[in-house]
Amino acid sequence: MPDTITIIDDRTGKKVTVPITDGVFPSSAIRELDPSLFVYDPAYLSTAACKSSITYLDGDNGILRYRGYPIEQLAEKSTFLEVAYLLLNGELPNGAQLDQWTHDVTHHTFIHENMRKRFVDGFHYDAHPMGMFVSAVAALGTFYNQAKDIEDKDSRDKQILRLIAKMPTLAAMCHRFSVGLPFVYPDNDLSFSANFLHMMWKVGEYQVNPVLERAMDVLFILHADHEQNCGTTAMRVVGSSHADPYSACSAAAAALYGPLHGGANEAVVRMLEDIGSLDEVPAFIQSVKDGKGRLMGFGHRVYKNYDPRARIIKQVAYEVFEVTGKNPLLDIALKLEEVALTDEYFTSRRLYPNVDFYSGLIYQAMGFPISMFTVLFAIPRTAGWLAHWQELLADKDQKISRPRQWYTGADTRDYVALSAR
Ligand code: CMC
Repeated sequence: MPDTITIIDDRTGKKVTVPITDGVFPSSAIRELDPSLFVYDPAYLSTAACKSSITYLDGDNGILRYRGYPIEQLAEKSTFLEVAYLLLNGELPNGAQLDQWTHDVTHHTFIHENMRKRFVDGFHYDAHPMGMFVSAVAALGTFYNQAKDIEDKDSRDKQILRLIAKMPTLAAMCHRFSVGLPFVYPDNDLSFSANFLHMMWKVGEYQVNPVLERAMDVLFILHADHEQNCGTTAMRVVGSSHADPYSACSAAAAALYGPLHGGANEAVVRMLEDIGSLDEVPAFIQSVKDGKGRLMGFGHRVYKNYDPRARIIKQVAYEVFEVTGKNPLLDIALKLEEVALTDEYFTSRRLYPNVDFYSGLIYQAMGFPISMFTVLFAIPRTAGWLAHWQELLADKDQKISRPRQWYTGADTRDYVALSAR
Protein backbone atom coordinates (compact mmCIF):
# COMPACT_ATOMS: atom_id res chain seq x y z
CA MET A 1 0.00 0.00 0.00
CA PRO A 2 1.59 3.35 -0.97
CA ASP A 3 2.20 5.92 1.78
CA THR A 4 0.45 8.61 -0.22
CA ILE A 5 -2.95 10.19 -0.47
CA THR A 6 -4.58 11.37 -3.68
CA ILE A 7 -7.15 14.15 -3.59
CA ILE A 8 -9.35 14.64 -6.65
CA ASP A 9 -11.25 17.87 -7.26
CA ASP A 10 -14.42 16.48 -8.86
CA ARG A 11 -15.27 19.90 -10.26
CA THR A 12 -12.20 19.99 -12.47
CA GLY A 13 -10.89 16.43 -12.42
CA LYS A 14 -7.53 17.75 -11.22
CA LYS A 15 -5.79 15.49 -8.75
CA VAL A 16 -2.85 15.81 -6.41
CA THR A 17 -0.90 13.03 -4.72
CA VAL A 18 1.13 13.82 -1.62
CA PRO A 19 3.06 11.67 0.89
CA ILE A 20 1.66 10.59 4.25
CA THR A 21 4.38 10.77 6.93
CA ASP A 22 3.62 9.50 10.43
CA GLY A 23 -0.09 9.74 9.65
CA VAL A 24 0.17 13.36 8.48
CA PHE A 25 -0.10 14.86 5.00
CA PRO A 26 0.67 18.49 4.06
CA SER A 27 -2.22 20.90 3.51
CA SER A 28 -0.19 22.34 0.63
CA ALA A 29 -1.89 19.56 -1.37
CA ILE A 30 -5.17 21.49 -1.11
CA ARG A 31 -3.50 24.77 -2.14
CA GLU A 32 -1.91 23.01 -5.09
CA LEU A 33 -5.31 21.73 -6.17
CA ASP A 34 -7.01 25.11 -5.90
CA PRO A 35 -5.52 28.03 -3.90
CA SER A 36 -9.03 29.32 -3.10
CA LEU A 37 -10.06 26.02 -1.43
CA PHE A 38 -10.00 25.74 2.37
CA VAL A 39 -10.49 22.91 4.85
CA TYR A 40 -13.26 23.51 7.41
CA ASP A 41 -11.82 22.21 10.70
CA PRO A 42 -13.33 23.96 13.73
CA ALA A 43 -11.32 23.38 16.93
CA TYR A 44 -8.52 21.81 14.82
CA LEU A 45 -9.89 18.28 15.19
CA SER A 46 -7.89 17.07 12.17
CA THR A 47 -5.22 19.73 11.90
CA ALA A 48 -1.61 19.49 13.09
CA ALA A 49 -0.56 23.15 13.28
CA CYS A 50 3.11 22.42 13.98
CA LYS A 51 5.80 19.78 14.20
CA SER A 52 6.92 19.24 17.78
CA SER A 53 9.51 17.06 19.50
CA ILE A 54 8.56 17.96 23.07
CA THR A 55 5.69 15.75 24.23
CA TYR A 56 4.33 12.50 22.84
CA LEU A 57 0.74 11.66 23.62
CA ASP A 58 -1.09 8.50 22.52
CA GLY A 59 -4.64 9.07 23.65
CA ASP A 60 -5.94 5.65 22.58
CA ASN A 61 -3.40 3.84 24.71
CA GLY A 62 -3.09 6.35 27.56
CA ILE A 63 0.60 7.12 26.92
CA LEU A 64 2.33 10.40 27.81
CA ARG A 65 6.06 11.05 27.40
CA TYR A 66 8.16 14.19 27.76
CA ARG A 67 11.08 14.13 25.28
CA GLY A 68 10.64 10.35 25.11
CA TYR A 69 10.63 9.71 28.87
CA PRO A 70 7.43 8.05 30.20
CA ILE A 71 5.52 10.31 32.58
CA GLU A 72 5.37 7.48 35.14
CA GLN A 73 9.20 7.34 35.36
CA LEU A 74 9.55 11.11 35.59
CA ALA A 75 6.87 11.32 38.32
CA GLU A 76 8.64 8.62 40.30
CA LYS A 77 12.29 9.57 39.81
CA SER A 78 12.64 13.16 38.71
CA THR A 79 11.97 16.64 40.08
CA PHE A 80 10.01 19.49 38.56
CA LEU A 81 13.10 21.61 37.89
CA GLU A 82 14.84 18.70 36.17
CA VAL A 83 11.71 18.11 34.06
CA ALA A 84 11.53 21.81 33.17
CA TYR A 85 15.15 21.62 32.00
CA LEU A 86 14.35 18.49 29.99
CA LEU A 87 11.35 20.13 28.29
CA LEU A 88 13.30 23.26 27.43
CA ASN A 89 16.58 21.64 26.38
CA GLY A 90 15.54 18.27 25.01
CA GLU A 91 17.84 16.24 27.28
CA LEU A 92 18.08 15.49 30.99
CA PRO A 93 20.75 17.68 32.61
CA ASN A 94 24.01 16.22 33.95
CA GLY A 95 24.93 17.02 37.57
CA ALA A 96 26.69 20.32 36.80
CA GLN A 97 23.93 21.48 34.46
CA LEU A 98 21.24 20.66 37.02
CA ASP A 99 23.14 22.50 39.77
CA GLN A 100 23.56 25.57 37.57
CA TRP A 101 19.91 25.51 36.44
CA THR A 102 18.64 25.05 40.00
CA HIS A 103 20.88 27.89 41.19
CA ASP A 104 19.76 30.20 38.38
CA VAL A 105 16.03 29.54 38.86
CA THR A 106 16.37 29.84 42.63
CA HIS A 107 18.08 33.23 42.29
CA HIS A 108 15.38 34.70 40.09
CA THR A 109 12.45 34.07 42.42
CA PHE A 110 12.11 37.64 43.72
CA ILE A 111 9.84 40.12 41.96
CA HIS A 112 10.10 43.89 41.76
CA GLU A 113 8.50 45.49 44.81
CA ASN A 114 6.27 47.60 42.58
CA MET A 115 4.60 44.47 41.25
CA ARG A 116 3.10 44.01 44.68
CA LYS A 117 2.83 47.56 45.96
CA ARG A 118 1.62 49.32 42.85
CA PHE A 119 0.08 46.55 40.78
CA VAL A 120 -1.36 43.77 42.92
CA ASP A 121 -2.51 46.13 45.66
CA GLY A 122 -4.74 47.80 43.06
CA PHE A 123 -7.02 44.77 42.71
CA HIS A 124 -10.40 44.66 44.40
CA TYR A 125 -10.27 42.76 47.71
CA ASP A 126 -12.22 39.77 46.36
CA ALA A 127 -10.45 39.49 42.98
CA HIS A 128 -10.12 35.90 41.73
CA PRO A 129 -6.45 34.82 42.10
CA MET A 130 -6.37 33.42 38.56
CA GLY A 131 -7.65 36.70 37.10
CA MET A 132 -4.94 38.47 39.10
CA PHE A 133 -2.34 35.96 37.98
CA VAL A 134 -3.17 36.32 34.26
CA SER A 135 -2.80 40.11 34.55
CA ALA A 136 0.28 39.90 36.77
CA VAL A 137 2.17 37.74 34.25
CA ALA A 138 1.56 40.31 31.50
CA ALA A 139 2.44 43.17 33.88
CA LEU A 140 5.70 41.46 34.86
CA GLY A 141 6.89 41.85 31.26
CA THR A 142 6.75 45.65 31.60
CA PHE A 143 9.66 45.41 34.05
CA TYR A 144 11.90 43.85 31.38
CA ASN A 145 11.98 45.93 28.19
CA GLN A 146 14.61 43.62 26.77
CA ALA A 147 11.97 40.89 26.66
CA LYS A 148 10.69 42.30 23.40
CA ASP A 149 13.98 41.34 21.77
CA ILE A 150 12.91 37.82 20.99
CA GLU A 151 15.64 37.41 18.34
CA ASP A 152 18.32 37.61 21.04
CA LYS A 153 19.01 34.18 22.53
CA ASP A 154 20.53 35.59 25.74
CA SER A 155 17.43 37.67 26.31
CA ARG A 156 15.15 34.73 25.56
CA ASP A 157 17.02 32.51 28.03
CA LYS A 158 16.86 35.23 30.69
CA GLN A 159 13.10 35.69 30.30
CA ILE A 160 12.55 31.91 30.42
CA LEU A 161 14.48 31.74 33.67
CA ARG A 162 12.57 34.67 35.13
CA LEU A 163 9.17 33.33 34.13
CA ILE A 164 9.75 29.85 35.54
CA ALA A 165 11.31 31.22 38.74
CA LYS A 166 8.78 33.96 39.43
CA MET A 167 5.54 32.08 38.76
CA PRO A 168 5.35 30.55 42.28
CA THR A 169 6.09 33.97 43.78
CA LEU A 170 3.33 35.61 41.73
CA ALA A 171 0.93 32.77 42.52
CA ALA A 172 1.52 32.95 46.29
CA MET A 173 1.28 36.73 46.15
CA CYS A 174 -2.14 36.56 44.43
CA HIS A 175 -3.36 34.13 47.08
CA ARG A 176 -2.10 36.13 50.05
CA PHE A 177 -3.59 39.33 48.66
CA SER A 178 -6.97 37.61 48.18
CA VAL A 179 -7.06 36.50 51.84
CA GLY A 180 -5.48 39.69 53.23
CA LEU A 181 -2.24 38.11 54.45
CA PRO A 182 1.12 39.91 54.20
CA PHE A 183 3.41 38.84 51.38
CA VAL A 184 6.15 36.29 52.22
CA TYR A 185 9.44 36.71 50.35
CA PRO A 186 11.01 33.68 48.63
CA ASP A 187 13.43 31.60 50.69
CA ASN A 188 16.22 30.59 48.34
CA ASP A 189 17.42 27.85 50.69
CA LEU A 190 14.31 25.83 49.87
CA SER A 191 13.51 23.68 46.85
CA PHE A 192 11.21 25.02 44.13
CA SER A 193 8.14 23.30 45.56
CA ALA A 194 8.99 23.85 49.23
CA ASN A 195 9.59 27.53 48.55
CA PHE A 196 6.16 27.81 46.96
CA LEU A 197 4.44 26.10 49.91
CA HIS A 198 6.41 28.32 52.27
CA MET A 199 5.31 31.51 50.48
CA MET A 200 1.72 30.25 50.49
CA TRP A 201 1.36 29.17 54.10
CA LYS A 202 3.96 30.80 56.31
CA VAL A 203 2.36 32.62 59.23
CA GLY A 204 4.83 32.66 62.12
CA GLU A 205 6.83 29.41 62.31
CA TYR A 206 6.27 27.13 59.33
CA GLN A 207 8.04 23.92 58.35
CA VAL A 208 7.28 22.40 54.95
CA ASN A 209 6.13 18.80 55.30
CA PRO A 210 8.40 16.65 53.04
CA VAL A 211 5.49 14.45 51.89
CA LEU A 212 3.53 17.50 50.79
CA GLU A 213 6.66 19.01 49.21
CA ARG A 214 7.18 15.87 47.13
CA ALA A 215 3.45 15.66 46.27
CA MET A 216 3.53 19.26 45.06
CA ASP A 217 6.60 18.50 42.96
CA VAL A 218 4.97 15.42 41.41
CA LEU A 219 1.84 17.46 40.62
CA PHE A 220 4.07 20.08 38.98
CA ILE A 221 5.79 17.35 36.90
CA LEU A 222 2.44 15.94 35.76
CA HIS A 223 1.19 19.36 34.69
CA ALA A 224 4.40 20.60 33.04
CA ASP A 225 3.36 19.95 29.44
CA HIS A 226 0.62 18.36 27.41
CA GLU A 227 1.45 19.14 23.77
CA GLN A 228 -0.98 21.27 21.73
CA ASN A 229 -3.74 21.91 24.29
CA CYS A 230 -5.77 25.12 24.31
CA GLY A 231 -3.32 27.11 26.49
CA THR A 232 -0.22 25.99 24.58
CA THR A 233 -1.96 26.79 21.31
CA ALA A 234 -2.69 30.28 22.69
CA MET A 235 1.01 30.56 23.58
CA ARG A 236 2.00 29.61 20.05
CA VAL A 237 -0.60 31.84 18.37
CA VAL A 238 0.41 34.92 20.38
CA GLY A 239 4.10 33.99 20.15
CA SER A 240 3.77 33.73 16.36
CA SER A 241 3.17 37.50 16.22
CA HIS A 242 6.57 37.88 17.98
CA ALA A 243 4.97 39.31 21.13
CA ASP A 244 7.20 39.13 24.22
CA PRO A 245 7.02 35.85 26.22
CA TYR A 246 5.27 37.47 29.21
CA SER A 247 2.36 38.57 27.00
CA ALA A 248 2.26 35.16 25.35
CA CYS A 249 2.34 33.34 28.73
CA SER A 250 -0.41 35.60 29.99
CA ALA A 251 -2.55 34.65 26.97
CA ALA A 252 -1.81 30.98 27.59
CA ALA A 253 -2.79 31.39 31.26
CA ALA A 254 -6.03 33.11 30.18
CA ALA A 255 -6.85 30.11 27.99
CA LEU A 256 -6.07 27.81 30.90
CA TYR A 257 -8.50 29.74 33.12
CA GLY A 258 -11.55 28.35 31.27
CA PRO A 259 -13.56 25.54 32.94
CA LEU A 260 -13.15 23.24 29.93
CA HIS A 261 -9.35 23.44 30.33
CA GLY A 262 -7.37 24.18 33.52
CA GLY A 263 -10.46 25.46 35.30
CA ALA A 264 -11.86 21.92 35.34
CA ASN A 265 -10.23 20.93 38.66
CA GLU A 266 -12.07 23.82 40.32
CA ALA A 267 -15.28 22.72 38.60
CA VAL A 268 -14.75 19.12 39.81
CA VAL A 269 -14.63 20.09 43.48
CA ARG A 270 -17.65 22.38 43.11
CA MET A 271 -19.49 19.51 41.40
CA LEU A 272 -18.56 17.06 44.20
CA GLU A 273 -19.70 19.58 46.81
CA ASP A 274 -23.00 20.06 44.95
CA ILE A 275 -23.56 16.29 44.79
CA GLY A 276 -22.96 16.27 48.54
CA SER A 277 -23.49 12.57 49.37
CA LEU A 278 -23.04 9.08 47.94
CA ASP A 279 -26.82 8.65 47.66
CA GLU A 280 -27.02 11.50 45.17
CA VAL A 281 -24.46 9.97 42.77
CA PRO A 282 -26.92 7.94 40.63
CA ALA A 283 -29.26 10.92 40.20
CA PHE A 284 -26.33 13.14 39.25
CA ILE A 285 -25.06 10.63 36.67
CA GLN A 286 -28.58 10.45 35.22
CA SER A 287 -28.74 14.25 34.95
CA VAL A 288 -25.44 14.23 33.01
CA LYS A 289 -26.84 11.55 30.69
CA ASP A 290 -29.94 13.70 30.23
CA GLY A 291 -27.69 16.47 28.97
CA LYS A 292 -28.02 18.68 32.06
CA GLY A 293 -24.30 19.37 32.42
CA ARG A 294 -21.08 17.41 32.19
CA LEU A 295 -19.26 15.12 34.54
CA MET A 296 -16.34 17.44 35.19
CA GLY A 297 -12.91 15.82 35.26
CA PHE A 298 -14.07 13.24 32.74
CA GLY A 299 -13.36 13.07 29.02
CA HIS A 300 -10.56 14.49 26.97
CA ARG A 301 -10.06 15.60 23.39
CA VAL A 302 -7.11 13.26 22.97
CA TYR A 303 -7.30 10.59 25.70
CA LYS A 304 -9.87 7.98 24.87
CA ASN A 305 -8.48 5.86 27.68
CA TYR A 306 -7.58 6.45 31.35
CA ASP A 307 -5.42 9.60 31.50
CA PRO A 308 -2.03 8.30 32.81
CA ARG A 309 -1.69 11.45 34.91
CA ALA A 310 -4.99 10.69 36.67
CA ARG A 311 -3.66 7.27 37.68
CA ILE A 312 -0.53 8.81 39.26
CA ILE A 313 -2.53 11.59 40.93
CA LYS A 314 -4.90 9.07 42.48
CA GLN A 315 -1.88 7.41 44.10
CA VAL A 316 -0.45 10.76 45.27
CA ALA A 317 -3.86 11.59 46.78
CA TYR A 318 -3.61 8.67 49.18
CA GLU A 319 -0.07 9.74 50.24
CA VAL A 320 -1.26 13.30 50.88
CA PHE A 321 -4.33 12.13 52.80
CA GLU A 322 -1.99 10.17 55.14
CA VAL A 323 -0.68 13.60 56.24
CA THR A 324 -3.72 15.83 55.90
CA GLY A 325 -6.52 13.39 56.65
CA LYS A 326 -8.88 12.14 53.95
CA ASN A 327 -10.76 14.67 51.87
CA PRO A 328 -14.44 13.87 52.60
CA LEU A 329 -15.24 14.36 48.90
CA LEU A 330 -12.98 11.41 47.96
CA ASP A 331 -15.71 8.82 48.53
CA ILE A 332 -18.08 10.68 46.22
CA ALA A 333 -15.35 10.92 43.57
CA LEU A 334 -14.57 7.20 43.82
CA LYS A 335 -18.25 6.33 43.54
CA LEU A 336 -18.71 8.63 40.53
CA GLU A 337 -15.72 7.02 38.85
CA GLU A 338 -17.03 3.53 39.57
CA VAL A 339 -20.52 4.29 38.25
CA ALA A 340 -19.29 6.19 35.17
CA LEU A 341 -16.76 3.52 34.20
CA THR A 342 -19.51 0.90 34.08
CA ASP A 343 -22.17 3.05 32.43
CA GLU A 344 -22.77 2.63 28.70
CA TYR A 345 -23.13 6.42 28.16
CA PHE A 346 -19.55 7.00 29.33
CA THR A 347 -17.95 3.80 28.03
CA SER A 348 -19.42 4.16 24.52
CA ARG A 349 -18.05 7.74 24.34
CA ARG A 350 -14.75 6.59 25.83
CA LEU A 351 -14.96 9.08 28.70
CA TYR A 352 -12.42 8.37 31.46
CA PRO A 353 -11.10 10.40 34.41
CA ASN A 354 -8.64 13.08 33.30
CA VAL A 355 -5.88 14.88 35.23
CA ASP A 356 -8.38 17.20 36.91
CA PHE A 357 -10.60 14.55 38.47
CA TYR A 358 -8.43 13.91 41.54
CA SER A 359 -5.99 16.87 41.56
CA GLY A 360 -8.56 19.25 43.11
CA LEU A 361 -9.12 16.84 46.01
CA ILE A 362 -5.40 16.87 46.79
CA TYR A 363 -5.17 20.64 46.54
CA GLN A 364 -8.16 21.03 48.81
CA ALA A 365 -6.72 18.62 51.38
CA MET A 366 -3.46 20.61 51.31
CA GLY A 367 -5.44 23.73 52.17
CA PHE A 368 -5.52 25.50 48.81
CA PRO A 369 -8.73 27.43 48.22
CA ILE A 370 -10.63 26.31 45.13
CA SER A 371 -9.92 29.61 43.41
CA MET A 372 -6.18 28.80 43.46
CA PHE A 373 -6.46 25.48 41.61
CA THR A 374 -5.93 26.82 38.10
CA VAL A 375 -3.05 28.97 39.34
CA LEU A 376 -1.43 25.75 40.60
CA PHE A 377 -1.77 24.34 37.07
CA ALA A 378 -0.23 27.46 35.49
CA ILE A 379 2.98 27.40 37.59
CA PRO A 380 4.45 24.22 36.06
CA ARG A 381 2.73 24.59 32.67
CA THR A 382 4.88 27.70 32.16
CA ALA A 383 7.81 25.34 31.45
CA GLY A 384 5.79 23.65 28.70
CA TRP A 385 4.54 26.94 27.25
CA LEU A 386 8.10 28.26 27.05
CA ALA A 387 9.45 25.05 25.53
CA HIS A 388 6.82 25.37 22.79
CA TRP A 389 7.60 29.08 22.38
CA GLN A 390 11.30 28.28 21.79
CA GLU A 391 10.40 25.52 19.37
CA LEU A 392 8.03 27.82 17.48
CA LEU A 393 10.64 30.56 17.09
CA ALA A 394 13.20 28.07 15.76
CA ASP A 395 10.76 26.45 13.31
CA LYS A 396 11.34 27.69 9.77
CA ASP A 397 7.91 26.38 8.68
CA GLN A 398 6.13 28.76 11.05
CA LYS A 399 4.65 32.15 10.23
CA ILE A 400 2.22 34.38 12.05
CA SER A 401 -0.90 32.32 12.92
CA ARG A 402 -3.72 33.35 10.68
CA PRO A 403 -6.44 30.77 9.98
CA ARG A 404 -8.96 31.26 7.20
CA GLN A 405 -12.71 31.42 7.70
CA TRP A 406 -15.81 30.11 5.95
CA TYR A 407 -17.86 33.29 5.57
CA THR A 408 -21.58 32.63 6.17
CA GLY A 409 -22.82 36.21 6.67
CA ALA A 410 -24.96 38.51 4.58
CA ASP A 411 -24.16 39.24 0.96
CA THR A 412 -23.44 42.86 0.06
CA ARG A 413 -26.30 45.21 0.93
CA ASP A 414 -26.87 48.95 1.13
CA TYR A 415 -26.79 50.86 4.39
CA VAL A 416 -30.30 51.68 5.65
CA ALA A 417 -30.84 55.05 7.34
CA LEU A 418 -31.87 54.83 11.02
CA SER A 419 -35.25 56.41 10.26
CA ALA A 420 -36.03 53.67 7.74
CA ARG A 421 -35.19 50.68 10.03
N1 CMC B 1 -19.55 14.50 30.74
C1 CMC B 1 -20.57 14.05 30.00
N2 CMC B 1 -20.51 13.92 28.67
C2 CMC B 1 -19.37 14.25 28.07
C3 CMC B 1 -18.25 14.72 28.78
C4 CMC B 1 -18.37 14.83 30.17
N3 CMC B 1 -17.35 15.26 30.91
N4 CMC B 1 -17.25 14.98 27.92
C5 CMC B 1 -17.72 14.68 26.70
N5 CMC B 1 -19.00 14.24 26.79
C6 CMC B 1 -19.84 13.75 25.71
C7 CMC B 1 -20.36 14.89 24.84
O1 CMC B 1 -21.60 15.36 25.31
C8 CMC B 1 -20.44 14.23 23.51
O2 CMC B 1 -21.59 13.42 23.48
P1 CMC B 1 -22.47 13.30 22.13
O3 CMC B 1 -21.56 12.60 21.16
O4 CMC B 1 -23.67 12.54 22.52
O5 CMC B 1 -22.79 14.72 21.70
C9 CMC B 1 -19.24 13.28 23.48
O6 CMC B 1 -19.00 12.96 24.86
C10 CMC B 1 -17.99 13.89 22.88
O7 CMC B 1 -17.73 15.10 23.57
P2 CMC B 1 -17.04 16.35 22.91
O8 CMC B 1 -17.52 17.58 23.60
O9 CMC B 1 -17.18 16.30 21.42
O10 CMC B 1 -15.56 16.11 23.26
P3 CMC B 1 -14.41 17.16 23.16
O11 CMC B 1 -13.21 16.43 22.72
O12 CMC B 1 -14.81 18.34 22.33
O13 CMC B 1 -14.29 17.69 24.64
C11 CMC B 1 -13.61 18.00 26.86
C12 CMC B 1 -13.26 17.36 25.52
C13 CMC B 1 -12.43 17.81 27.81
C14 CMC B 1 -13.79 19.52 26.66
C15 CMC B 1 -14.88 17.36 27.41
O14 CMC B 1 -14.70 15.96 27.60
C16 CMC B 1 -15.36 18.01 28.71
O15 CMC B 1 -16.07 19.02 28.66
N6 CMC B 1 -14.97 17.42 29.88
C17 CMC B 1 -15.33 18.03 31.16
C18 CMC B 1 -14.37 19.16 31.44
C19 CMC B 1 -13.01 18.66 31.85
O16 CMC B 1 -12.86 17.76 32.66
N7 CMC B 1 -11.96 19.29 31.25
C20 CMC B 1 -10.57 18.98 31.58
C21 CMC B 1 -9.85 18.44 30.44
S1 CMC B 1 -8.28 17.74 30.92
C22 CMC B 1 -7.32 19.09 31.34
C23 CMC B 1 -6.83 19.81 30.16
O17 CMC B 1 -6.07 19.24 29.37
O18 CMC B 1 -7.22 20.96 30.03
